[in-house]
Amino acid sequence: MSASLFNRAKEIIPGGVNSPVRFYEPYPFFASYGRGSKIITEDHDTLIDYCLGYGAVILGHAYFEIISAVKKQLEKGNIFCVPTENEVRLAELIIEMVPNMEMVRLMNTGAETTMHSIRLARAFTKKKKVVKFDGCYHGAYDYVLVNPGSSASNNSFNGNLVEAMNQTLLVPYNDLGALENLTKTNNDIACVIVEPVLANMGLIIPEEEYLSKLRRICEREEIVLIFDEVVTGFRLSPGGASEYFGVIPDIMTLAKSIGNGFPLSAIAGKKNIMELLSPEGTVFQGSTYAGNPISTSAGIATLEKLSSLKNELYPKLSRFTDTLSNGIRDHLRDLKFKASVNNISSMFQLYFTDEKIKDASSVRKSNNILYKKLFDELLKSGIFIPPSQFETCFISYSHDDDDIDRTIESFAKALKKVKDFE
Ligand SMILES: Cc1ncc(COP(=O)(O)O)c(C=O)c1O
Repeated sequence: MSASLFNRAKEIIPGGVNSPVRFYEPYPFFASYGRGSKIITEDHDTLIDYCLGYGAVILGHAYFEIISAVKKQLEKGNIFCVPTENEVRLAELIIEMVPNMEMVRLMNTGAETTMHSIRLARAFTKKKKVVKFDGCYHGAYDYVLVNPGSSASNNSFNGNLVEAMNQTLLVPYNDLGALENLTKTNNDIACVIVEPVLANMGLIIPEEEYLSKLRRICEREEIVLIFDEVVTGFRLSPGGASEYFGVIPDIMTLAKSIGNGFPLSAIAGKKNIMELLSPEGTVFQGSTYAGNPISTSAGIATLEKLSSLKNELYPKLSRFTDTLSNGIRDHLRDLKFKASVNNISSMFQLYFTDEKIKDASSVRKSNNILYKKLFDELLKSGIFIPPSQFETCFISYSHDDDDIDRTIESFAKALKKVKDFE
């Protein structure tokens, strides 16, 4: 049972969880296994999953082709730390799918990719400062933990090196004026790092032409533009946010959907920047597990599947997300909530505020207590959305019409209960 597992866990694992985002009051449910759109808990409840490994599980849990590719590889060995054909094939697939990227380096986690992208940008520009956006999350290390979103938004940064954090300059998302002003007053900016669609402050969508104008400012000021596509890569479209919005960054980070949730990530970028990576260049990046055969076999199987299904998969994900978001909007309106829903492609989130959600400060005005009540009520009826307002809800290829209908009905019931607390 989840309650007794959590009691065991909290004695020996700080807070009982291995990543703070997983904790919620009074204690989190423990997963037993996953199938398609569902997680089956240690309490034998079946939940329709809209958290999906915080966006990683694009095809669905235990997706047959991915699991069989990994099983096949397991028979042949899981790590060699010498190059394998898998790595070459996966890099080729990434370059085929993501427009205008010329070289790829494989890694394991999202944080590694953003850290090394920033290092590359500093080496390339010979400048030091990093510009990041209020509410964007790029990983758990000092100089991106400056007003981050996600579970780091409570700003508990004891032990961080203030000198490192001071190298990072902060601007509001969707505010080109603020970025213009900053670039005019500071000539030591190496890079602008941005989640092209902000998925760690709930879901914030870039305003019309925001990303293309961001691109132009970076070009003019000779600043490296890094799209952190850890969430949006292969999810927003086969070529991620870059393809979706038609804006090409200098470096792009990829993770999560790249391997349907296996620990796998990548940096893709222009050749003149990527060539700076060691051993060809002098920017050091290395990892025992980078490009390991298990993760790459999952990556190849996932990208081949996404590629072959793309004409059906992406429209289906968008259609389901639209239907669900509109269903939630109808109920919010009927119940006269001051609330709104943001959605794009296979991502959505709702906010209990009448403020237009366009940046982190508007999200902070949303009523988190009502969100947590909604989470609790939905969980009781078999629907799992992320426990925090600062996360995004996702849909996978394994979700079906029945899941969507049941979810809209569950939202209707849950929202009626939440209304009592408004
Ligand atoms: C946009 C973004 N970048 C970077 C990261 C860090 O990835 P990881 O947790 O794999 O280190 C995350 C994690 O959720 C993320 O959402």
